[in-house]
Amino acid sequence: MSDITGNNPLTSLDEWENDLLVRYPDSDAIAAGRDTEAYRDYESTTKDSVREFYRLQHINQTYDFVLQKKAEYLKFDRAEMTVWEAFDFLNQLIDDSDPDTDLDQLQHLLQTSEAIRNDNRPDWMVLTGLFHDLGKVLCLFGEPQWAVVGDSYPVGCAFSDKIVFSEYFKDNKDHHDPRYNTKYGIYEPNCGLENVHMTWGHDEYIYHIMKPYLPEQALYMLRYHSFYPQHREKAYSHLMTAHDHQLFKAVDLFNPYDLYSKSPVAPNWKELRPYYEDLVAKYLPATLKF
Ligand SMILES: [Fe+2]
Ligand SMILES: [Fe+2]
Repeated sequence: MSDITGNNPLTSLDEWENDLLVRYPDSDAIAAGRDTEAYRDYESTTKDSVREFYRLQHINQTYDFVLQKKAEYLKFDRAEMTVWEAFDFLNQLIDDSDPDTDLDQLQHLLQTSEAIRNDNRPDWMVLTGLFHDLGKVLCLFGEPQWAVVGDSYPVGCAFSDKIVFSEYFKDNKDHHDPRYNTKYGIYEPNCGLENVHMTWGHDEYIYHIMKPYLPEQALYMLRYHSFYPQHREKAYSHLMTAHDHQLFKAVDLFNPYDLYSKSPVAPNWKELRPYYEDLVAKYLPATLKF
């Protein structure tokens, strides 16, 4: 999948998530506040592939691009699959060239959902863990890496300088467009995140797929799980309502399970499958539309 000179600089999609662990090593350190020294270190040691990935994302994620992708994908006319067919489809993303990713995509989803289950969280949150990265099938529909993964953030208003590698936004056309380059851009103060267009990627896509079936907290977890500029940097509170802030407690609760549940030990899918079949049947229809 890697193509450092082209649209897909990452060796695999996991490279972005591994990099998040370098940036946000553990939740306690973040709660205590990041020191700027460490942050500079992060920037100077980031791999070229990750830097190039963010450069492409920051240049190409524009307001028009997001609206175009929403119009294209939210028709859900690409495929209709059972949940299990969708996981098989996602697993085609295994990248043999990366020695660190010998676990397939399903393993990360199961490790996340099992960590949530072990903490006796509600069953819909376990299901959310299982589904949170299913939107990565966008890659298999031909989308470039920068339109599938990466930190998510609003478009249609100024890009925050708290976003990682924000210097690359100078080459985004919206950065020079007076409709979109002010603090509020096309939005009103505290207009609510439901009225804000986020970058197009796996979070936004899976949110729309699951919207009819899961409780609101779950939908926030899905939609904003890569919104690091808000959950770690509080860069967009001026667009949020009190209700958003309340629901972000769910996002904050979910985030460590996503970032810190990775383990080289693969969950035993055969043993776990009956539990998950029942859980899926409780909340979801027989097939999902993509
Ligand atoms: Fe994700
Ligand atoms: Fe994830």
